[in-house]
Amino acid sequence: MKLLGKKILIGVTGSIAAYKTAELVRLFVKEGAEIQVVMTRSAHDFVTPLTLATLSKNPVLTDFSDPDTGTWNNHVDLGLWADAYIIAPLSANSLGKLASGYCENLLSAVYLSSRCPVFLAPAMDLDMFAHPLVQENLDRLARAGNIIIGPESGELASGLKGEGRMSAPDEICNYICKILQSASELQGKNILVTAGPTREQIDPVRFISNNSSGKMGVAIAVEMAVRGAIVTLVAGPGVKLPLNRSVTCVPVVSAEDMYKACMQYFSDSDVTIMAAAVADYRPVETSDSKIKKTGLVSALSLEPTKDILAELGTLKASHQILVGFALETDNELENAKGKLHRKNLDMIILNSMKDTGAGFEKDTNKITIIEKNNVITPFELKSKKEVASDIADKIISCIRLQ
Ligand code: CTP
Repeated sequence: MKLLGKKILIGVTGSIAAYKTAELVRLFVKEGAEIQVVMTRSAHDFVTPLTLATLSKNPVLTDFSDPDTGTWNNHVDLGLWADAYIIAPLSANSLGKLASGYCENLLSAVYLSSRCPVFLAPAMDLDMFAHPLVQENLDRLARAGNIIIGPESGELASGLKGEGRMSAPDEICNYICKILQSASELQGKNILVTAGPTREQIDPVRFISNNSSGKMGVAIAVEMAVRGAIVTLVAGPGVKLPLNRSVTCVPVVSAEDMYKACMQYFSDSDVTIMAAAVADYRPVETSDSKIKKTGLVSALSLEPTKDILAELGTLKASHQILVGFALETDNELENAKGKLHRKNLDMIILNSMKDTGAGFEKDTNKITIIEKNNVITPFELKSKKEVASDIADKIISCIRLQ
């Protein structure tokens, strides 16, 4: 029983996939969880409250109050009661409302009141799912720290085939068991993550920067928060910041700003992961007024920025774990190992620009982790979310070995 003693709140919205929620409730009960179901009014058209009440062994709630008994269903208490809140299925309508912070029924009021991890399993027709506004809402909910499960591709209630089918109940249950078991792995740990590029201003209109999107660093920050850590994310310009309540974002612009922010948070951090692509050089002087093109070449006199990671390596205490990235095109392993030793790191994550699907702006990455004891672990090409999970696993085993 993987969920013994866990309190799970299940939200059901109006979608044909609601018939699968009965099976989901049964699976959670089998894993030992205590279940409370909250439904929207339109979910009643697809599955009866009696079915879900019988399977969950608890009355099912829909409204803020029950006029027959004169009781009030306290959304705040329900939100605080739960160890996890799973909304399955999540219709396009409810998805839009959650993304906008609406609070018009018990299900959405509990959502806003909950402090536990929230899992969303969308279910809708393929064109609805592909609609840019639905995708934008989903992205917003993911950035707010919600964990999106599915949907999967397959035959839909409309007879069409495509992406939009709610994930299978056993997949949802297995995934949630895995996440809840790992949710306390980094409890109480302070983790500092850097992400994105830095921008070195030449004059008010021009700057030196690079192509980093910050997606890898953001995925790492979010994954660490999911595992229970208190995360500080120092992010360069243009990074799409997560809205996750467990991640404190510190936006910076230049390498010097990033250096100062890292110095501020480093001493309290148990683990520091430098995923940022820090500019190596900056103009010796930044002009306050726009430089005429005739004077531009002479204005481009450069000086090195501080190597933040190398500096953190000199300050590192024995209980602290320091992780760097190495983006290489040639002689990859040797170069990465050189950085690991030179900068006094516990591990370095190597990306090769030669690997298809790896590198800046992509949603996938292919990494090799090199540890200071020379253990080298190569990984397959994966989504940046999965790569972040592999990195978190390695860091957790590194903490356990300390
Ligand atoms: N880094 C840093 N400060 C810098 C430059 C890099 O903290 N001024 C960090 C990066 O965040 C990364 C690691 O150092 O974690 C390696 O960065 P990379 O650009 O691969 O290596 P460099 O040390 O800059 O060396 P080179 O450009 O010669 O490969």
